[in-house]
Amino acid sequence: MKIFTKTNKLIQYLSQYKSESIGFVPTMGALHNGHISLIKRSVEENDITIVSIFVNPTQFLEGEDLDKYPKKIEADKKVCSFAGVDILFIPTKEEIYFEDELSFIAPKTKGFILEGYHRPGHFNGVLQVVLKLLNITKPTNAYFGKKDAQQLYLVKKMIKELFLNINIVECEIVRDESALALSSRNEYLTSAEKERAKSIPNSLKKATELISKGELSSVKIKKEIAKTLIEVKVEYIEIVDRDFNKLEQIELGNTIILVAAYVGTTRLIDNIWI
Ligand code: PAF
Repeated sequence: MKIFTKTNKLIQYLSQYKSESIGFVPTMGALHNGHISLIKRSVEENDITIVSIFVNPTQFLEGEDLDKYPKKIEADKKVCSFAGVDILFIPTKEEIYFEDELSFIAPKTKGFILEGYHRPGHFNGVLQVVLKLLNITKPTNAYFGKKDAQQLYLVKKMIKELFLNINIVECEIVRDESALALSSRNEYLTSAEKERAKSIPNSLKKATELISKGELSSVKIKKEIAKTLIEVKVEYIEIVDRDFNKLEQIELGNTIILVAAYVGTTRLIDNIWI
């Protein structure tokens, strides 16, 4: 596995690949089994796999966890090497950002609802860094998890609207034994909080059970989800279609049910695709 910290060195190195397929997995490190599933898929589906580790400052709001975001760089290197990664890119902030950069604004509607409403400006930073990383790595396929469903939707929208010739591969959510969706932020949870966090996947399970019994009203399903979300502070429960339009009625094959909640001081998101 080759490790690069300099953007121009990586671009130069990648110029040797003319006809090989390149898979790219962007991450912020503290790699867990969710990331590993994306990496393994990329290794299977491409000639070359590139992983980036960059805790992107522009997607964190003032007062968020940028400074305490988990960092495990040596363990991450081992994970990548073991998973068959060819190239690991670990740039510094200075390698990615410039003085007085052009501004980057996420779509005015879809970038500022749900996650974008509660974290205003978050998606400006996500799209800015993802576009930069895609321009550096020029992948054939780029791998994103469904857990960050709105991020995935917005990245696909950007690819389409900027006419980028990159295939975005949507990867399934990976859960732990208690069904909690894997996230680097789970590391902040105490064992008591982990217990309480279980109500998040449980609430989504409850929603799927109701739907399988024929309940299609979003209002009723949201009420049931809210009842199941005990001992967590709910930020939002929403039901949208795959283009992030609010749904009054569940549309089978075109629905995402989303939850964001605080467990103690840790903010978790989860969702289920119906
Ligand atoms: O999902 C993430 O980890 C980040 O938002 C990403 C895509 C690596 C951009 O910083």
